[in-house]
Amino acid sequence: MAKKVILDLDTGIDDALAIFYCLGSPELELIGITGTYGNVQVAQGVRNALAILALCGRDDVPVFLGEPHALSKKSFEVMEISEFIHGKNGIGNVGIPDAERQPESMGAVDFIIESAHTYQKDLLYIPTGPQTNMATALRKDPSIKDRIGRMILMGGALTVPGNVQPWAEANINQDPEAANETFRSGLPATMIGLDVTLQTLLTYKETQVWRDLNTPQGAFVADMTDYYIKAYETTAPYLGGCGLHDPLAVGVAADPSLVKCLDINMKVDTEDPVRGRTIGNEMKLNNSDKTMNVAVEVDVPRFLDEFMARITRVAQGS
Ligand code: RIB
Ligand code: CA
Repeated sequence: MAKKVILDLDTGIDDALAIFYCLGSPELELIGITGTYGNVQVAQGVRNALAILALCGRDDVPVFLGEPHALSKKSFEVMEISEFIHGKNGIGNVGIPDAERQPESMGAVDFIIESAHTYQKDLLYIPTGPQTNMATALRKDPSIKDRIGRMILMGGALTVPGNVQPWAEANINQDPEAANETFRSGLPATMIGLDVTLQTLLTYKETQVWRDLNTPQGAFVADMTDYYIKAYETTAPYLGGCGLHDPLAVGVAADPSLVKCLDINMKVDTEDPVRGRTIGNEMKLNNSDKTMNVAVEVDVPRFLDEFMARITRVAQGS
């Protein structure tokens, strides 16, 4: 039976690819998208998620507005680097029509709590932005940590440097307190960090495959991803492609054998000079009960094959 999935997205370009990946995965049933801030403001991310679902003919998937800023802040401003990488509208400045519907009246936090109670261990929660929604849900109903099957998060860096600070990755850096609370909560979690996502790269060769489909979905995903690849030519020219961060988290949800993990209880530093660092929790280092693991190896060719097959399936539009 397919696992129930909540995607918690700051819908930028790789988040959008994560939606396509999830829709193209028979192992996963997308029961809802919860919006967060990060690559864009929360309202823009939710707008993007709704528009992408409409483009893919999936108006049946509900979308929920989440928390608009970090736990310790009163507002949120999009970072210049986020706008450079994802475009002003978050999806590479590619224009797609607004959906005809609005987000649900229930908020993201309540949807997460309700789903945890309804689906229990069948529920996979996949955040690919800051973890403010889950931290807020855990504060409101701590019991959900024992109910949800697993959180498979894109964020953090254990064995490699960060991407917004030498010690911090972007999603964790947006709200270190939130990530620290979810990491320490005991919620079973797999961290898909830069350790593995910067090994999974896409080039213009692959996006041309989607463009050649001659469908609105193929054109969208190709144009949007080309914008992202172009940005990577400036920010990380040594990689030779763009990092498939968020789709890899969905890939691991569909097929955990794509990565090898280190079992380790984690924490996030919340104080300077290493605020936002994801690292082993020294207080729980010797606990036999490891509630977290961190992906440290990825089967790149197999993931890229899966990625292309699944995105292409959705981009075909049939
Ligand atoms: O560090 C990469 C992550 O930051 C991705 O989730 C990307 O979408 C941004 O949110
Ligand atoms: Ca993201």
